[in-house]
Amino acid sequence: MQQREKPSSIPPKEPPRSLDEYILSHIDAEGEYLHALWRDTQLRLSYGQMASGHLQGRLLKMLIQMVKPLKVLELGTFSGYATLCMADGLPPGAELHTFEVFDENEDFLRQWLGGSPQAGKIHLHIGDALQLVPQLGIGWDFAYVDADKRQYVDYYEMLMPLMRPGGYIVADNTLWYGHVLEKARQSDLQTRGVQAFNDLVAADPRVEKVILPLRDGLTLIRVKD
Ligand SMILES: C[S@@+](CC[C@H](N)C(=O)[O-])C[C@H]1O[C@@H](n2cnc3c(N)ncnc32)[C@H](O)[C@@H]1O
Repeated sequence: MQQREKPSSIPPKEPPRSLDEYILSHIDAEGEYLHALWRDTQLRLSYGQMASGHLQGRLLKMLIQMVKPLKVLELGTFSGYATLCMADGLPPGAELHTFEVFDENEDFLRQWLGGSPQAGKIHLHIGDALQLVPQLGIGWDFAYVDADKRQYVDYYEMLMPLMRPGGYIVADNTLWYGHVLEKARQSDLQTRGVQAFNDLVAADPRVEKVILPLRDGLTLIRVKD
């Protein structure tokens, strides 16, 4: 019987076709658990694209590692993707409280958050963050704002008195698909909400701020000491 010839070398990996692919192939891997969560999110939940995803997830973990916050807040859990990324970067003894108003995701969330190696650091609250967060009486070192775009100003006004001096607020979707540039979208309440938030933060002398054009826009806000 004729033997098959061994390949002289392993064929090279396909080169990345876009900058996005290039970036993802040159940053830390997503990891099996997060990848499985991402896939399950797309399969079982509506609007799966709301989950932060690989690149933003790695950035959030790194920001947490840089800031080393003890009390972390997330507004808008959705499927728990960003929750797990941030929890992974927490220093010992730190805790993360995440709020989700849509109670139909609760079983999904308890399964994925509860089954993760980060479970002990995560507190899931089901309900409206605007009502529940002030009731906790916690001073926050780091807050990730990623819930209803129409309420971004309300979240900011709620959070500012609760933030520790030197703490950080990170707000997602602050370029809102580029719609923030469009004056004509005044009937679009989400665009108006994000525009009002950006204007408020830009004019607020209590904070330092920078907008990263990452994914859909990420604003980093530092509460001055
Ligand atoms: C963009 S998704 C969150 C994505 C998630 N942070 C991530 O990065 O994977 C927004 C979520 O905020 C939730 N939400 C909207 N308004 C809320 C509120 N007032 N309190 C708590 N959650 C809210 C929505 O139900 C939705 O699941």
